[in-house]
Amino acid sequence: MKAAQISKPGEDFELVERDIPEPGAGQVRVKVEACGICHSDVLVKEGLWPGLQYPRVPGHEIAGRIDAVGDGVTEWKKGQRVGVGWHGGHDFVCEQCRCGDFAMCINRKITGIDFDGGYAEYMVAPASAVASIPDELPPEEAGPFMCAGVTVYNALRNSGARSGDLVVVHGIGGLGHLGVQYARRMGFETVAVGRGRDKEALARKLGAHHYIDSGTGDATTELQKLGGARVILATAPNAQAISGLLDGLSVNGKLLVPAAPAEPLIVSVLSLIMGRRSVAGWYSGTARDSQDTLEFSALTGVHPMIEKYPLSRVAEAYEQMHSGKARFRVVLTMSS
Ligand SMILES: NC(=O)c1ccc[n+]([C@@H]2O[C@H](COP(=O)([O-])OP(=O)(O)OC[C@H]3O[C@@H](n4cnc5c(N)ncnc54)[C@H](OP(=O)(O)O)[C@@H]3O)[C@@H](O)[C@H]2O)c1
Ligand SMILES: [Zn+2]
Repeated sequence: MKAAQISKPGEDFELVERDIPEPGAGQVRVKVEACGICHSDVLVKEGLWPGLQYPRVPGHEIAGRIDAVGDGVTEWKKGQRVGVGWHGGHDFVCEQCRCGDFAMCINRKITGIDFDGGYAEYMVAPASAVASIPDELPPEEAGPFMCAGVTVYNALRNSGARSGDLVVVHGIGGLGHLGVQYARRMGFETVAVGRGRDKEALARKLGAHHYIDSGTGDATTELQKLGGARVILATAPNAQAISGLLDGLSVNGKLLVPAAPAEPLIVSVLSLIMGRRSVAGWYSGTARDSQDTLEFSALTGVHPMIEKYPLSRVAEAYEQMHSGKARFRVVLTMSS
């Protein structure tokens, strides 16, 4: 099979021929049809994940079909359409920590980090990492839901915001352009915050009631004019820009951060205290959360805006994501 791997941290993608992997006990093999390129693939490309073993095939926005199942797998059958996301499965109740938290168990595996991901024609995943794709979603749309989609959908549905609340999506990229669509469909008064005006028309088309250009003027003043945000979903990977939004929150507002900038956030504790505000991180979700995301998206007509590239043009595709030029998700396809 063809695969695109990173052989050493910081190196370019290498297109290689590999043997098609065999699924072990409790695993399934997926014939990949499409795989989105997430900003988090930078972690693999640049060697920013502690302990990551190379060579590694990145990719955790996988859509395809079950091609073979390992011993003991009864819930999945050859031919079923499935997705695999960032969350790469784990033991049912981990003997080591007994946390019972499927998403956060210390023994969880991460797709494209702990094992090879979807920048390849085939990949193998634990059966517990797999979600079923509804018929109406084509693979190149289902892929981006497996990380970008589930992360923002799951963050918003667990954010504590209620319909009618002012909810902000900061950073209109892969995650953000889906966040705007979900926020609108969940019944929030939806604000998109981007830098510059060039994404305004698209953000409004995706469902934003308001658009704020953080590049001109003070976004927090604009948010306070709207009454203050119950939730700010920060997807732009820039610590300074995220920190600067805190005063745009209402009393009891929450700055919810899936974005993963390398630098620390700097927040005013006084602002937290006086407004009883909070800052929290967000981790994508389990396979069940991904399936909920796929189903909600099919039900309510949420679509990723995608740019397709064949696997052979992986370097160009990655650069399109990394430059911020993509509108809005770059997806690798395996068919040509
Ligand atoms: N927690 C999780 O589970 C999880 C899951 C997936 C991704 N992530 C992280 O989430 C972040 C976003 O990922 P992604 O795939 O959506 O990345 P992406 O497609 O590259 O989008 C990021 C967007 O942020 C915008 N941006 C950058 N700096 C900005 C600023 N100062 N102000 C406003 N907008 C700004 C960029 O737009 P312009 O450059 O055009 O302004 C770009 O469109 C990354 O840090 C990624 O690692 C976390
Ligand atoms: Zn991701």
